[in-house]
Amino acid sequence: MRKKLVAGNWKMHGSLAENAALLAALKPALAGIDAVVCVPFPYLAQAQAELAGSTIAWGAQNLSEQAKGAFTGEVSAAMLLDFGCTYVIVGHSERRSLYGESDALVASKYMAAQAAGLKPILCVGESLDERESGVTEAVVARQLDAVINAAGIASLMNAVLAYEPVWAIGTGKTASPEQAQAVHAFIRNKIAALDPAVADQLVIQYGGSVKAANASELMAKPDIDGGLIGGASLVAEEFVAICRAAAK
Ligand code: PGA
Repeated sequence: MRKKLVAGNWKMHGSLAENAALLAALKPALAGIDAVVCVPFPYLAQAQAELAGSTIAWGAQNLSEQAKGAFTGEVSAAMLLDFGCTYVIVGHSERRSLYGESDALVASKYMAAQAAGLKPILCVGESLDERESGVTEAVVARQLDAVINAAGIASLMNAVLAYEPVWAIGTGKTASPEQAQAVHAFIRNKIAALDPAVADQLVIQYGGSVKAANASELMAKPDIDGGLIGGASLVAEEFVAICRAAAK
């Protein structure tokens, strides 16, 4: 049985004071439960200080595809490792759509993360237009192929996937458990055709308006192995309830 994993994506939210309160609430409530929080870069040191010794891992939401050098404003994988990160989100739809990250750049970032020993949480997912025109599977396959062709199928042994339909992110519209399961099964079957062992152990999270109220139904689906949680990860009771639903 694959272990489920829930990750919080704080996006550009938080402050030292707010984070201290949130982390202090999460730590005892999630004792013994594996979870992840992906925090803004300036708060990595705070996450490291607060979460060391707990079962909550921490990570970032983006990284540079470059190792070091004259890249003003960028943050490398090695720097994330310096702050104890285990995970880094790669290819979130907001990075793809608002900051123009191409499939090729996402693949480079994924490889930079793995080269440094970080586990990328690779996000894929279709827009509303794409879903309505019936190309959901083609879009997800294209996004996955860019990474598999560049990094190899075995690289997924050291990664987490997150299926996040763009139309469900931050909109309050969750994919139904059946809609989500269908795409998760498509992804797992596609990977199984290349390497059944990789497909079997791969954690595929669902993301998009997951809350305490809908988490159990989603997590009960056979190919949904946890969640990538935006808005609800900023509310301790919500995030704890989602993590507990996944751990059941
Ligand atoms: P949401 O965001 O849970 O607020 O929809 C999910 C995400 O963008 O990772």
